[in-house]
Amino acid sequence: MTFKIGRLTLANRVVAAPMAGITDRAFRDLAREMGAGLTCTEMISAQALIHGSRKTAWLLDIAGEHPISVQLFGSDPLVLARAAQMVVDAGADVVDLNMGCPTPKIVKHGEGCALMRDPQRAGEIVAAVAAAVSVPVTVKMRKGWDEGYPDAVVLARVAAAAGAAAVTVHGRLRAEFFSGQADWNIIRAVKNAVPIPVIGNGDVRSGKDAARMLDVTGCDAVMIGRAARGNPWIFRNVLHYLETGQELPPPTPDERVAMAFRHFDLLLRYKGEAKAVLEMRKHLAWYTRGLRGAARLRARLHTADSAAAVRALIAGMASAGQPEEGF
Ligand SMILES: Cc1cc2nc3c(=O)[nH]c(=O)nc-3n(C[C@H](O)[C@H](O)[C@H](O)COP(=O)(O)O)c2cc1C
Repeated sequence: MTFKIGRLTLANRVVAAPMAGITDRAFRDLAREMGAGLTCTEMISAQALIHGSRKTAWLLDIAGEHPISVQLFGSDPLVLARAAQMVVDAGADVVDLNMGCPTPKIVKHGEGCALMRDPQRAGEIVAAVAAAVSVPVTVKMRKGWDEGYPDAVVLARVAAAAGAAAVTVHGRLRAEFFSGQADWNIIRAVKNAVPIPVIGNGDVRSGKDAARMLDVTGCDAVMIGRAARGNPWIFRNVLHYLETGQELPPPTPDERVAMAFRHFDLLLRYKGEAKAVLEMRKHLAWYTRGLRGAARLRARLHTADSAAAVRALIAGMASAGQPEEGF
């Protein structure tokens, strides 16, 4: 079933979440190969981008990648509008505005989730960005700041009126960070309040969860974050479940080894050996989750300091044995 964001038609309604430090080009390639209808960059500072930061430009490694949503954060409508033009020039199909990041160093500058406390500014930002670019502009938000502040319903209405083509709602308050369970009722409330598509997010870990979120909230698409770490198969599985009502069997140890090799090869290609080695340690901890002998393997991760050492560790996964229950 296709899914439309403004004039953009996506192949399906399963979206890979933006995750800083994780959803780089290599990760996105795998998510797309496994069926994700849309993938999203890590969040990118609009301010740093327009000031030509090399480190930030690195995050905008999207040439030839479609469909791709580029997420910007910031608090100044003009800066965000200029940055949005830059990311569209770089090939973005969607510009996503981060209004959900709970991190203190972001919110203290009035960015990320702090914008949920300032719907007027949030509306100015969406209007400025939507006027600056011709691709759809979306907003990613949380349920709210804390119990006392205007919630996602208010912000979603403001965003829709200002020209947003869709909103994503993660059903947790800023005050909750990642604790507890996501509140899917807020996703339903937003869906009932705005005329634009709503992407539901929070705690989707299986095909069954995705189907339940679509069913109980009426949302138009689901976004999957943490469950995709070390598990790009989740997108294929969710799509399969939405079509057939059946979960696919978990990947075999051999499939996990092959995927980890492929992930590492992509990291090497996009980032070079030094970065690839460091970053693959983190991904390997996820790829080995639930495998027998994983603890022993993980204990050796920090010693892997070359591509050859990482490859030896990945090969070692093959002999680490069958997955334990519950992967
Ligand atoms: C390590 C990490 C980094 C994240 N970085 C971002 C980000 O850059 N932008 C954003 O909007 N959300 C970010 N998120 C939030 C996710 O996109 C998502 O909203 C959240 O994890 C809830 O979805 P899940 O239960 O499927 O993981 C991040 C989450 C994690 C765990």
